[in-house]
Formats: sequence, structure tokens, C-alpha cells
Amino acid sequence: MPLSFTSSKIESIPFAGIRKVFDKAAQMDSKGIKVIHFEIGRPDFDTPKHIKDAAKSALDQGMVHYTRNAGIPSLRKAIAASIKLFKKVEYDPMKEIIATGGGQQAMFLTLQSILNSGDEVLVPNPGYPQFTSCVTMCGATPIPVPLVQENNFAPDLLAAQKLISQNTRAIIVNSPHNPTGGVLTRSQIIEICNFAEKNDLLIFSDEAYDRILYDNEFVSPAAIDKMKKRTVIWGSLSKTYAMTGWRIGYIAAPAELVSNAIKVQQNLMLSLCSFAQAGAAAGLDGPQDVVDNMTSKFMERRRIILDGISDTPGLSCPVIPQGAFYVFVAHKVPGMNSEQLADRILDEVGVATVPGSYFGSKGEGFLRISYAASKEDCQEGMARIKNIMSLLMKEQPSS
Ligand SMILES: Cc1ncc(COP(=O)(O)O)c(C=O)c1O
Repeated sequence: MPLSFTSSKIESIPFAGIRKVFDKAAQMDSKGIKVIHFEIGRPDFDTPKHIKDAAKSALDQGMVHYTRNAGIPSLRKAIAASIKLFKKVEYDPMKEIIATGGGQQAMFLTLQSILNSGDEVLVPNPGYPQFTSCVTMCGATPIPVPLVQENNFAPDLLAAQKLISQNTRAIIVNSPHNPTGGVLTRSQIIEICNFAEKNDLLIFSDEAYDRILYDNEFVSPAAIDKMKKRTVIWGSLSKTYAMTGWRIGYIAAPAELVSNAIKVQQNLMLSLCSFAQAGAAAGLDGPQDVVDNMTSKFMERRRIILDGISDTPGLSCPVIPQGAFYVFVAHKVPGMNSEQLADRILDEVGVATVPGSYFGSKGEGFLRISYAASKEDCQEGMARIKNIMSLLMKEQPSS
């Protein structure tokens, strides 16, 4: 056999499309071009001081060793308490919670624990691209379910019903949603729960943006009557506390899954960074006004982006985002798809956005703007986009 470093499983997984944007924007940065970064899905704020202090003090006290596979008890207790407070669901911290390397690892541990080859999982289209690639990595098949723009980007459950087969195991729900900023209402969550119950599916609920909400309440499927037993929550501290680099998240789920996920963790990471866990526990246990302060800054930036869009030819925002820090902007430039448009905007005015098509076929015709950038950058970025869109809308499409 010829030497090879590629399994067939990994061969079928593309590099994340967003990387192309990152790499190009980084190259422009390195040439001294002032790029406005609307592509990055991470808060620009520093992690709150009391969280950093707790991590520093853990280090000073010699907390430098492996921890339990499932995470330090104080962190698991803090996660359970926070879920009880904000999501109104009770979990046993020692049996139903495992701390993970971000929401991303929560997803991976869950899928590795549950899926068999041939299984199918319903994933949102458009949606966070890793839903598709992680399901594939676990030997199962992602089945895209279209989201309905007119309905707050909720999944089209009639379409989903037609996609159900005897191999369908689960549906992935993500509210607040990346890339649209859509937030599902309580009644929409209940409809999804009824759909899951009727088809005997598990619900994987990605709640990475649970605390970044503007008007709507947050509703976890786990909080709906009789749903806790079929729901797996993928939680994250990354966005809530501006801790993307700390890599802390969690799974909250029935004990059987948590025990399986611990087995996967024993073969993957053994345990998370010890002092990062101590900091994370302080974040969850400590003052929560830090989250409200960041959210009100996001709200201000959202206003700047939305005003900019309504003042720009060829762009519109059909659904006002209610959560996370993304706007999914519809564009209409004759003869241009979302990748071509994002390219022109980056090349010609130095604003990095993500083509909607990178989030699935239903994302074509949109650009994702992340407003996790400073207020000044939001203003400057929208002014630049307005300039180029005014020119592009006058261009004739090349035949
Ligand atoms: C929907 C969604 N889920 C999960 C993640 C992973 O976040 P983390 O691993 O930092 O918690 C992201 C990151 O952007 C996301 O957008």
C-alpha cells in the first residue's frame, strides 16, 4: 500500500471555509492594510478581572496537575447552579455534567458517544459548519434541514418530517443561532420538542450564545416538560464571559451520556486545563453584570450595523437578529454569489465578512457580519461596505 496520511473519513471533510477569509484577511493585516474584521465570531472584550484573578491564584496555589476527567467539582457545581438559575433545569453536577474543552468539544464528545455508522442527524441549514463535519467525523450522515427565514429562522419541520428515516437519531437545535442571530420562541422550541418526541429523536441543543440575548427570553428544550431525558445541552463559557481562548464549555445531559462522554475524554484530553477550570468556576459563581455589560455593548453595535444596512443599496436584513452577535445580511448584486461578493468587499475596501454559502446551501444570497468588533470598527466597516455596494450596484454583470 502507498504511504498515506489520510483516512477516507477525514478526506470527506473540507477545511473550514471561514479559514479562507481568515487567512486572506491576516495576509492583508500583515501588509499593513487596516482590515475591519467582521468575520470573527469572538467577543473583542478582555475576560473579566475576577475570572483572571481566580485562575492566577489557582496557579499560585499549585493547581498545575491533571484534574478529574469530568472536570473539577467546583466547576461542575457552578455549571449546574448556573443552568438552574438561567435555564430552569436541575442537573446533578456529579452525574449529569461534564466540563469540556468549549462547546466544540461538548459536541464532539456527545457525537462520539452516541452515533453509530449509518446513523443520521438533522442539522440546520444554514448552520454552524462544524455540526456537519463533526457528524461526518463520527461516521454518521448529516441531513440538512432548511430554516425558514420568515419564521425567525426556525427549522422547517414539515420538510424535516420528510427527511426522517429509520436511521435518524437526533436533531441539532441552535438558539441563539449562528449565523443568523435568530432566537427561537418558546412555542417554536415546543414544536421542535413535539417533533422530536413524535419521531423518537434526541435533541442536541447548542446553547453557546444562551446569554447573549436582546429582547427574547432564552428557552432550552431541556426545560420543556418531559424533554430533559432526550436533550443534550452543549454549553460554552467562550462567548458569555469573553473566554474563547480558555476553552471551557460543558455537556448537561442524562447520566448515561455523561458517563460515555467521560470515556471519550479519557482517550482524548484526559482533563481540561486545571487553572482555566478554576477561572471558569469563578465566572459562573461571580457577578453576572459583566455579561449584561457586554450584551448592552453588543446591542449598541447591532444598531450601528442594522442602520448601516438599511442605508446601503443592495443589502437588507429580513430578520432582525435577537441574539448572538451576528447579522445575516441578504444581498442582491446582479450576477454575484455570496463568495464573490465577500471577496470583492475584502479585496476592495478591506472588510472581512463570511459568505453565507459557507454555512450551507440555504446561506447563499447572504453575508454574515459579526459585530463582535469595536463600535468604531462597526461604523467604519459599514461606511466602507456602503461605498463599495454603491459602486457594485451600478456595475453591469459580466456575461
Ligand atoms: C454555534 C456554535 N457552537 C459552538 C461553538 C464553539 O464554541 P466554543 O468551543 O468556543 O465554546 C461556536 C463557535 O463559534 C458556535 O458558533
